[in-house]
Amino acid sequence: MTPVMRFDHHHTRMRHGTFLEYKKFRYLKLATLVSVASIAAYVFHKPPVTPYGGTWLGYTLGTIGALLILMLLWFGVRKRQYSAADANLQGWLSAHVYLGVSLIIIATLHTGFEVGWNVHTLAYVLMLGVIFSGFYGIYSYVRFPSMITGNMAEDSFDSIMLKISTLDSEARKIAMRLPDHLVLAVQAAAQGTIIGGGLFTQVTGRQRNCPTTAALTIIQKGGADLKGDAAKHNHELYSVMLQRKRLVDRARADISYRARMSIWLFFHVPLSIALLAALAAHIVSVFFYW
Ligand code: HEM
Ligand code: HEM
Repeated sequence: MTPVMRFDHHHTRMRHGTFLEYKKFRYLKLATLVSVASIAAYVFHKPPVTPYGGTWLGYTLGTIGALLILMLLWFGVRKRQYSAADANLQGWLSAHVYLGVSLIIIATLHTGFEVGWNVHTLAYVLMLGVIFSGFYGIYSYVRFPSMITGNMAEDSFDSIMLKISTLDSEARKIAMRLPDHLVLAVQAAAQGTIIGGGLFTQVTGRQRNCPTTAALTIIQKGGADLKGDAAKHNHELYSVMLQRKRLVDRARADISYRARMSIWLFFHVPLSIALLAALAAHIVSVFFYW
């Protein structure tokens, strides 16, 4: 059995899903209020020029947006602080998600729908990238935990791995009484099956030419020519290999769900750092050219 390298992020500890309802949707209400107020201000605001980031409302919305972004970035610091154990991370995450979404409205109105090929729009596009990767994050936090539990049932990942190695010794014993190519297939399944592996393999939960699947086919085909005891052993071997295959599938599904709950953060976090840089450039440049 190949050693398993698990790719698993340290998630904010939370009862998954509950952060969305936090304090009867306090932050959903706040975010809605901020968004509606921004839209109303935008509609009633009659600037002497076509609306853009440089009117008084433009500055106000831009400043609110920039402060919100700093607050959302601060969450990354907050969750790593030693005091985080007793800090209210659930409340922080709830605010993060809803206020993060309201940024779509605030920042868009800030621009007055003026965009172009410049560092300002780069900041805007990066912001949207962060937000949409966040959407996937929420989706994954709501969807995968129950699938992980359902898939594991009463087992743990380690107990599945243990069952697989028990099946491997059984399979080896049975195969010794069978033709060589079956011994080889059993050996290949035990040694060449990858659970874990590279990032792509982990996410998809599949291995190309998986030796366990191959062994099943070989055993099934090989069985046709066997008679008497050999046919019986072959049948037993098939059932052992089938159990192996089911356990391998479950172990891979477990890894896949966890990888899919982590992988979006590899976009969310770097994009948010890039956003910070582009935003700083945006603000500096508008003051510089003003
Ligand atoms: C303190 C915060 C901010 C200030 C002072 C500010 C200031 C400005 C100003 C003065 C303009 C007009 C530039 C011009 O057309 O000459 C502008 C436009 C713009 N701002 Fe901001 N901004 C801030 C925050 C943000 C944020 C948070 C975003 C989005 C991430 C953003 C994205 C844009 C975009 C896309 C434009 C339109 C650029 C274009 O016309 O091509 N700004 N901003
Ligand atoms: C411009 C807006 C945003 C910025 C700058 C931002 C930035 C961040 C940062 C820096 C973290 C900490 C990640 C870590 O250190 O592990 C984080 C976590 C997170 N973000 Fe955002 N985010 C934004 C918007 C959103 C939105 C709109 C959503 C959801 C719709 C979202 C969902 C999440 C979630 C679920 C986490 C928690 C990950 C965990 O701890 O397990 N974010 N975000």
